[in-house]
Amino acid sequence: MCGIVGYTGKRCARDILIEGLKRLEYRGYDSSGIAVRGPGGITCTRSVGRIADLEKQIAGIDLAGSVGIAHTRWATHGAPTQANAHPHTDCSANVYLVHNGVIENCDKLKAQLEQEGHTFTSETDTEVIAHLVEKYLEGDDLAAAVQQALKRIIGTFGIAVMCRQCPDTIVVARNGSPIVIGVGDDEYYVASDVSALVEHTRQIIYLDDNEIAILKPDGFRSLTIDNVPTTKKVTEVDWDIEMIGLNNFDTFMAKEIHEQPETVRAAFRGRLYREQCEVRLGGLMDLGDTFLDARRIIISACGTAWHSALIGECMIEDIARVPVEVEYASEFRYRNPIIEPGTIVLVISQSGETADTLAALNEAKRRGVPVLAISNVVGSTIARESDAGVYIHAGPEIGVASTKAFTSQMVVLYLISLMLGRARGVGAAEGIKMIQALENIPDQISKVLEVESQVQHLAEKYYRKAENSLFLGRGYSFPIALEGALKLKEISYVHAEGYPAAEMKHGPIALITPDMPVVFIAVQDSIYDKILVNMKEVKARGGKVIAIATEGDALINNIADDVVYVPDAPEPLTPLLTVVPLQLLAYHVATMKGCDVDKPRNLAKSVTVE
Ligand code: M6R
Repeated sequence: MCGIVGYTGKRCARDILIEGLKRLEYRGYDSSGIAVRGPGGITCTRSVGRIADLEKQIAGIDLAGSVGIAHTRWATHGAPTQANAHPHTDCSANVYLVHNGVIENCDKLKAQLEQEGHTFTSETDTEVIAHLVEKYLEGDDLAAAVQQALKRIIGTFGIAVMCRQCPDTIVVARNGSPIVIGVGDDEYYVASDVSALVEHTRQIIYLDDNEIAILKPDGFRSLTIDNVPTTKKVTEVDWDIEMIGLNNFDTFMAKEIHEQPETVRAAFRGRLYREQCEVRLGGLMDLGDTFLDARRIIISACGTAWHSALIGECMIEDIARVPVEVEYASEFRYRNPIIEPGTIVLVISQSGETADTLAALNEAKRRGVPVLAISNVVGSTIARESDAGVYIHAGPEIGVASTKAFTSQMVVLYLISLMLGRARGVGAAEGIKMIQALENIPDQISKVLEVESQVQHLAEKYYRKAENSLFLGRGYSFPIALEGALKLKEISYVHAEGYPAAEMKHGPIALITPDMPVVFIAVQDSIYDKILVNMKEVKARGGKVIAIATEGDALINNIADDVVYVPDAPEPLTPLLTVVPLQLLAYHVATMKGCDVDKPRNLAKSVTVE
């Protein structure tokens, strides 16, 4: 949420910053701004709207200089206006600062600063930090002023600061909001995530909470906010520029949907040991028996990752017979859950930065139980703060709607189920069958992707006028109904609800009209017969039914208005196939309606505020 970029070196900062902002635009896109240090001082420009609007605005401005900071915003305090866009400055336009996070005590601090004579020009919490830095700045010791300012702050921040007295310096700091530093040749880059940096460098330093770093072209120094020097490790990331490009697709969402055969394969590659009928997840090995002997697992996540947690619950209980509970991270963190010894908490997060999921992780750690994480972004806060973890290796997911991360999360949950299952009585023969079935999935997803033109036709047929839609499923297909509804509503703005199919008759059935498409996930699983009954209940009330069904199921053709077929697979793996037509449906409804699928309104990719 909110993207930060910074550069100090010898090259044109403006180009690097604008390119970086474009890469980070998925983190927030309601307004943006840039400040560059040139021969005549610092020039700052801010704009409402997308980065393209900022580019137009700076077209005629001299932004020459090789030090600068920039920001793309997702509004928390104050509407998306030019005045509220970052960078923010102090009373004398001396200090410039960009911020990601939320300052909880900003009202109190602002009142105190106003009493001391400071004048504010925005409604943001961020501006408070700029004035605090101004208050504490003595001579050219920007780092000390930032430290003093941050000690007054309660809340989360990732910041980058520059000031007139320090011509080539950027000071960065973090607490709860990510800051990564890219190391170049006599140059340093700053960003809120590595996707903005990989075209320049793969040498990355991850700043930790309560740390600040002082960057100059000839070197960098890091210390805690309390002034204790720290030592940082430079890590080489394996993402490259190819992975963050569109590669001939119109949108990142389309690209990411189509990458799934490969990303699903990457999630299990090197982790299956056929001869021993075993799964090995390196990240969990250190936990040894603590993991294998878990008496209960609590899975906590948000959004799409929460849906994969629900699938994980079915998988782990079915395959390994370990009791599982799934909790919204935002609820778990403020409840008083009973967590007995023998419990393991598993958090799932694509970005690894989601504030509520991170808080759930910390709550579990506070209660002294081991916390495992499934995440995608290497080096993310959740990956680093957990006791053990598994990366899904899906590569950068840039479309705001999560697609390939979801299928890869399900693969890792399947691997965890098999690992636990093998330790608890799942036999070798069954283990082999499960492994083989998983190895078939990438090709089966490729086959499902062939239904795209049919799904596009269904989007036109049913969703030109529809303002509402229901998604129904049972068992493993219930979380897929939730996910199908979430995908549709978040990118096409068609109101959609996911329900367990049998719950429909307890209320939602009242909504059925010929104008409301009802999507059933109705594969030939253990409760197939029951879902056919639910489908007939909709038809009996004049409803229109689109069914996602198993290849070869002729019977369902007689009930549903339209059927999209997916290949047959063992029940725990069917979600990996049935979700794909629903991703495509959401995508085509959204593009038909002219929506920006990669950057849906009001949303942002990585939700780093609670
Ligand atoms: O990065 P995370 O997996 O923690 O993100 C969780 C949710 O914010 C995310 O899945 C969100 O719901 C997506 N927009 C869904 O498409």
